[in-house]
Amino acid sequence: MCGIVGYIGDKKAAPILLAGLKKLEYRGYDSAGIAVQEKKAVKIVKKEGKLDKLKSRTEEEVFYGRTGIGHTRWATHGRPSDINSHPHTDSFSEIVIVHNGIIENFRELKEELSAAGHQFKSETDTEVVAHLISTYYDDDLRTAVNKTVERLEGSFALAVMSRQEKDKIIAVRKDSPLIIGLGENENFLASDIPAYLEHTDNFYILEDGEIADIRKDKVNIYKFNGDLIVNKNKTKISWDAEMAEKQGYQHFMLKEIHEQPESLKRLLEDNLNGGQIDLTASGLAEDWLDNYDKIHIVACGTAYHSGALAKYLLEDKLRIPVEVEVASEYRYRNPIVDAGTLMIVVSQSGETADTLAALRLAKKKGASVLALTNSRDSSIARESDMVIYLKAGPEIAVASTKAYTNMVAAFYLLLVDGMRQRDNISDQITAEYTSDLIKLPEMIRKLSEQSKEQIQAIANNYEDKENIFFIGRNTDYTLALEGALKLKEISYIHAEAYPAGELKHGTLALIEEGVPVVALGSRADIFSKLFSNLKEVKARGAETLLITEENQKFETESVDHLIELPILNKDFAGLLAIIPLQLLAYYTALNCGEDIDQPRNLAKSVTVE
Ligand code: M6R
Repeated sequence: MCGIVGYIGDKKAAPILLAGLKKLEYRGYDSAGIAVQEKKAVKIVKKEGKLDKLKSRTEEEVFYGRTGIGHTRWATHGRPSDINSHPHTDSFSEIVIVHNGIIENFRELKEELSAAGHQFKSETDTEVVAHLISTYYDDDLRTAVNKTVERLEGSFALAVMSRQEKDKIIAVRKDSPLIIGLGENENFLASDIPAYLEHTDNFYILEDGEIADIRKDKVNIYKFNGDLIVNKNKTKISWDAEMAEKQGYQHFMLKEIHEQPESLKRLLEDNLNGGQIDLTASGLAEDWLDNYDKIHIVACGTAYHSGALAKYLLEDKLRIPVEVEVASEYRYRNPIVDAGTLMIVVSQSGETADTLAALRLAKKKGASVLALTNSRDSSIARESDMVIYLKAGPEIAVASTKAYTNMVAAFYLLLVDGMRQRDNISDQITAEYTSDLIKLPEMIRKLSEQSKEQIQAIANNYEDKENIFFIGRNTDYTLALEGALKLKEISYIHAEAYPAGELKHGTLALIEEGVPVVALGSRADIFSKLFSNLKEVKARGAETLLITEENQKFETESVDHLIELPILNKDFAGLLAIIPLQLLAYYTALNCGEDIDQPRNLAKSVTVE
């Protein structure tokens, strides 16, 4: 959600800024712009729409400058337009700024500045910050920015330049991520690591309440109170630039679907020790289950769906109460959470604003927080007491696939580790679960290869549909939720998920001739119940797709399309059933001709609430 880049060094800044923005496209945006320090002025080019538009606009201008900042904007205050795009300036174009986040008190500040004679060009909250900095500016940009941030409420990452001080970029972080890439006689600034991985693997991760003075040959980082931070830790990133490229796939999403066997294997191997699950590296005690009387799982979107699935399994096997809730609801009620609560927050990006706020709320009330996240050094990782890293590698497509799989797998690890601690579950059963878990990556690999053509054929049938329903029971219901979300977010076809048994309490009224219904039947234990619901929709004309394990017995006349899954422990079958759902969403969106990796209105990292 919005992307910031910055460059200062000996090379021309504009192409480096544009390339950095390209790498951040996945975050989601509707306009983009850059500002470069030229001899006499700061030259700004900004444009509504995709980066290609900005690129052709920059080709009409000549940029020589070696210092600059850039931005992709995801509109919050004011519609997407050239004027509302970043960078913004003060009235005299002395101060130039790009911003991620939301300034909550911008109205009050705007009124105050307007009364003092400031005139605003855009509808954004960001422009107000540029004007405010100019009122404090007295030939020292860092001090002016520092005074400004003391007046700001909300979340922000800022990159600021001054026409007077061409040798520096000032960057600030509060509740919105910002990293500084360190090079030889050049330094980079970005909201996320992939922007500059091809230039460096050495980064400073700014913490909340830090302000950086970035020059081409040095970076000084201060606290908001002015103290210089000595010996700030540098982070060495092990991903290479290749990992964040498409590597011959038409889309990142397809590449990421196919990476799942490898990334899942990485997670499992990381948490196995001599064939036994060992989660102690996360900070969990060996007998962690004894320390808590309840579990709260809080997350958003796809990450929430992984938690919804986990609730069924953890309660069934571990007999501990588990609540699962979307973070935006949890944070604004008064949940019963205390020192006996294990709060599990799940987040690919580790920066989701609502999840972070829920984490802080639970911590304040005494809960222990375990994060399942893909992002080392993210806010959620740093603020949690314990962390299981998902090890999915960079996930670029907005639609989450491999991170979801590793979220569910991380819950499987917790499940089996918890089973080891329960006296009523034999060592033999725990060992069988562990060995089933280890089989998953290879089974997923085979299934993705074998089901591809069949799914492409079904997807050809879906592209013209207006509504598609997904049904399931138990963990299969949570897969239905995820399948429906995946399909709607990238194909824009309306899709809804229902617990199969709930259909006849209302939704069945929407089923008519030709409406596709995807029935998830991966759980052998309740297959017959699910199948009765499938027959109900078939009797009303639905076009049915059944996803179930091979050798399952049923009346074939009720099933129009069938995808068979290899047979595995019913509790783990979900990670097999999700593969056809991901591919179905992908190929349907491909047929619809949509922008699969960057669906409209969506952002990869949702850093505002
Ligand atoms: O980074 P997070 O896992 O916290 O993100 C949560 C959701 O925004 C995310 O899963 C979203 O629902 C995806 N676009 C789904 O594909």
